[in-house]
Amino acid sequence: MNKTTYVAGICLLGSLVTGCSDSNDFKPIAGMDALDIYANACSSCHGENGGGKFGILLKLAGSDASRDEIVDKIRNGGHIMPAFPNIDTENAGLVAGYLKSL
Ligand code: HEC
Repeated sequence: MNKTTYVAGICLLGSLVTGCSDSNDFKPIAGMDALDIYANACSSCHGENGGGKFGILLKLAGSDASRDEIVDKIRNGGHIMPAFPNIDTENAGLVAGYLKSL
């Protein structure tokens, strides 16, 4: 399988859950805590409680990523993961803290 097919395949997999885009316009509502934000913005790909999807795929619980790396990932996205420009650094920090506590 060449790289293009591979990336397209992952995108297709992603679009089955939320759509394959560079940026996600999810915006936390005032009063949402880290768990609410995670459940609304992240669990569709990363599973409930950071447990991953389809077994261990995209598991976040126990990740080696530092708090700052997680904040950066939320704000800027990854190769496949969409960026969440509307989750400010404060809320991203809350979600990162939640994930580090798992
Ligand atoms: C559309 C699916 C999707 C959504 C929604 C999503 N992610 Fe991701 N995430 C991915 C994919 C795919 C990767 C791995 C590849 C990459 O970096 O793009 C990833 C990687 C990560 C990583 C790096 C994992 C590691 O161990 O280094 C973190 C941290 C992360 N996501 C956190 C989050 C958080 C927090 C949210 C919610 C604000 C979120 N993700 C929402 C698909 C998603």
